[in-house]
Amino acid sequence: MEQDVIQSLPEYDEHKNVSFLRDDKTNMRAFVAIHRKNGDMPSFGATRFWKYDNETEALRDALRLSCLMSYKAALAGLPCGGAKGVIFHQEDSAGQGRTRILESYAKQISSLKDSFITGTDVGVLQSDLFVMKRYAQNIVGFNDNSTKFTALGVVHGIQCAVERAFRSSSVKGRTFAIQGLGKIGAAVLEAIAPEAGDVYVADTDADKVASAKRAHKNVVEVPPDEIHRQKVDVFCPCAMGNALNTNNVAELSCSVIAGGANNQIENEVVGDILQRMGILYAPDYVINAGGLIAVYDEYEHPDSYEEERVRHKVLTIEDRLGHIFDESEKHGKPTHRIANELAEQTFNAYA
Ligand code: NAI
Repeated sequence: MEQDVIQSLPEYDEHKNVSFLRDDKTNMRAFVAIHRKNGDMPSFGATRFWKYDNETEALRDALRLSCLMSYKAALAGLPCGGAKGVIFHQEDSAGQGRTRILESYAKQISSLKDSFITGTDVGVLQSDLFVMKRYAQNIVGFNDNSTKFTALGVVHGIQCAVERAFRSSSVKGRTFAIQGLGKIGAAVLEAIAPEAGDVYVADTDADKVASAKRAHKNVVEVPPDEIHRQKVDVFCPCAMGNALNTNNVAELSCSVIAGGANNQIENEVVGDILQRMGILYAPDYVINAGGLIAVYDEYEHPDSYEEERVRHKVLTIEDRLGHIFDESEKHGKPTHRIANELAEQTFNAYA
């Protein structure tokens, strides 16, 4: 794809490098976008394997998500920039065809080892990493389940936000609305339900809602399109992006928004509105950085995994959130703008 086409896309943000990977033998097509790079340090970003309508949509996703990773890494205190790998589905991206695509992708990213470290995102399993590792060394995510650490950070981030809003980190009697009961949403539910008051939940997968109701008597089911407007203390977006947008922001009836989903606010203006409504928003890429912190630890310590060390690092998310809340109060600025400024100061200083 031509450089001027890439630069004309709205997600382009002076990316350091964008590579188009292609192998006609296996029909592999992928983009690797590197948003920012810190000196000799490779940039981090997991690989997504997804069906897109066309090549441009795949590229736009790679540009957008690599940018998000720079913000996430900067505010997780990690000295790496952000990147993203996106493999896009072709008709024959299943079974043996899929394995050959992963192998071919791995062979091509191995030459990017000084600038790109990757792992699993949507559509890539941990077992796929073992296939890829045969051809590329710049792969992480083998030590443990990084989602476990994302959930740990999200739960502690929720407590930190609750403490700021209600002057006590206890969730006892607090009411919650959880959007999405997948890996992160279910972990949040397990952590808070035993103490919380009513917990409203919604998922497009009815089985997940049924099992949550069976497990906890304070769980109340609501339809997916009504979860955001529940009158609760805390709304936890744990499903897809754009949970808070121009169409629904006025309908919110919570004091705190803290959850695991990426790209929770549609744009900066929606975040500004949250502040005007008196809602405390825990910026998504700060609270959900636990998985990245875990895989970065694996890169730093390839031969010595210590769960307690990773746990300790993930819990520092609370300190950073606390600092963002302090700055927001001090300057009367929305939390997402404070977080963006802090991250940009960090990665814009990279050589
Ligand atoms: P998941 O795929 O396990 O769970 C997502 C859940 O949301 C599913 O149960 C799905 O049925 C449900 N869902 C989809 N659309 C919905 C809707 N409109 N209303 C209600 N429920 C809906 O994903 P996971 O791993 O729990 O991730 C959740 C979010 O957290 C995603 O935005 C992901 O990008 C983000 N995230 C996850 C990380 C991880 O380590 N798993 C790391 C950082 C961010």
